[in-house]
Parts: sequence; structure tokens; C-alpha cells
Amino acid sequence: MSYDGRDVVNIGDFSRQDFEVLFEKAAFMEILDKDEAAEILKGYVVACLFFEPSTRTSNSFQSAAQKLGASVLTPPFNLKQKELDMTSLQKGESFEDTIAMFDGYTDVIVIRHPEIGSAQKAADVAKNPVINGGDGPNQHPTQTLLDLYTMHKSKGTAENLKLAMVGDLKYGRTVHSMAVALKHFSPAYVALVSPKELKMPEKYVEILKETGAEVVETEKIEDASPDIDFMYVTRIQKERFENPAEYEKLKGVYQIGLDTLKHFNKNVKIMHPLPRVDEIKTEMDKTSNALYFEQAQNGIPVRMALLALVTGN
Ligand code: NCD
Repeated sequence: MSYDGRDVVNIGDFSRQDFEVLFEKAAFMEILDKDEAAEILKGYVVACLFFEPSTRTSNSFQSAAQKLGASVLTPPFNLKQKELDMTSLQKGESFEDTIAMFDGYTDVIVIRHPEIGSAQKAADVAKNPVINGGDGPNQHPTQTLLDLYTMHKSKGTAENLKLAMVGDLKYGRTVHSMAVALKHFSPAYVALVSPKELKMPEKYVEILKETGAEVVETEKIEDASPDIDFMYVTRIQKERFENPAEYEKLKGVYQIGLDTLKHFNKNVKIMHPLPRVDEIKTEMDKTSNALYFEQAQNGIPVRMALLALVTGN
């Protein structure tokens, strides 16, 4: 499928070639002269509609759009009740009407919303491309693009990797998207490390097994193979718990530190979509294993590439 005019809602729609085109374009964005970059989306307007908290995704999309010369609209949808009263949503406007209106004002919509399927709902209404910045616990396709780009850059390939996913595999949308995307990269080994209450949903475990990878589910980090290339750590998704006591019981369950590294090969890279709470100790930050800040930074070229591609530029 060509990128021009395309919605990016479900990472399952991506082909291997789509990933390769994106990686190549992102690498190009990294070396592109600032003035040349600023010509690419000159005159375009990008809407960042965030109905849920976001720091990285929202701001990196804004930065990417601005580096390409576009302007951005960031309506205040992620607000407390009192502030929400100021917007039309509070007047009873439907989600569909809000999307239709922003579709008319802008050239691309980036949306984050707590409901599963919300990005698809927006894509069904909008004529211009819609990019999913996270739909509840379902998917976060652009995070997966930057995660795989980071692995590809770090290892020279995203193929045949050995990895561990650690933490909240039940509610973490980043690991769900990753599980779906990995079918194009023939992973050799995937350890799924979580408390039993936060196990990876069965459908994603099945998808991972279909890749031919050796898939291991465990509660202990030390049970993962010492040979892993990447340890992908996730935050316990507090906001998804119906019962706060359950969150209190599970928070802090994994805290990766220098001690943890002893179990793994010295080149293991630690990744995290961020924000972290306490699942990676700050003592890790200066080690050569820490890849998470570089990973976050890769969000800029990857999102620049994606915005340029979906607008046909
Ligand atoms: C992630 C998300 O929103 O799913 N954050 C991000 O976009 N970088 C991970 C998280 O919030 O834990």
C-alpha cells in the first residue's frame, strides 16, 4: 500500500516494505539540513488531538511537524472537568463532528484517545490521514515504528532478534503493537515477563508464536535468556486499573538496576517507551546498556518521516 493519504491506525496493516520505506525515510530526516526540512510541509497544518495525557507522543509529533515547516493545532481536550467546560465537547458535540471539523481545518490528524477503536472511528470520518497516537490499551503504532527503528539502528537490523518484554503486558499498548509488528522481522526468541495478573493477552501470545520465535512466559526477569539483545521494559499502566488496590499491589514489581544486568550479556540494550516510574533505576542511565533516551529521540525523525509520507511529500 502506498503511504500517500494513508491512515496509520493498526500496525497490522503494515507490510515489511512499509517498515523499510519508513526506516529509510527516517534515516534521511536525521541528516537533512534544517532549512530543507522546513520546506517539506510548508503551509500544512497538523492537528494533535490528545484526549489522554501525553508528553512524548504529543510533543514529538508537534516538533516533527514544526521541523517540516507545518503549523500545529493542539486543542485542549485533555483537561479536567472545569476546563473541559470551555470546549465544544462539553456542549455535547459528538466525537465524529469534532473530527470532521478538524479534518476540514487541517491536513493530518494525530489522535490519542482512551477508547479502543477511537482512531479507527476518526479515520472513518476524516478524509485526510489519521495517525493513531494510542487508542486505550489497544495499539500505539507510531511507538512501534520508532521502537523498531531504534533496534534497527542499534543492531544494524531488526531481524532475528532475541528480546524480552517486561512489565504490564496486559494493558501496555506499546507491547501489543510490537507483538503484531514482529511478524515481519522473524524474531528468534521472545520472553514475556510479567506478574500473572498482567500477562500478555492470549491473542498476542499466539501472534508471537506464529512468527516461529521461541516464546517464553515467566514472572521472573532472571528466567529470560541471558542472550537477549533487547529488554523492553514497560510501566504498570495505573490508569487502566479498575481497582486501585490491585495497582498498589503490583506497582514496583520490576525495578531494573545494575544487579539485573549481571544476569544478561554485557551488550543487552534496555528500552522503555517512557515515562518510567520506578521500573528502571536511574543508576542505569549512564550505562552503555541504556537505550531509552535515544529511543525517545528517535521519535522525531520517525514522526517526521511518517508525516511526510502520509501527505505524499
Ligand atoms: C506510552 C503510552 O502512552 O502508551 N508512552 C508513550 O507514548 N511514549 C507508554 C506509557 O505511557 O507507559
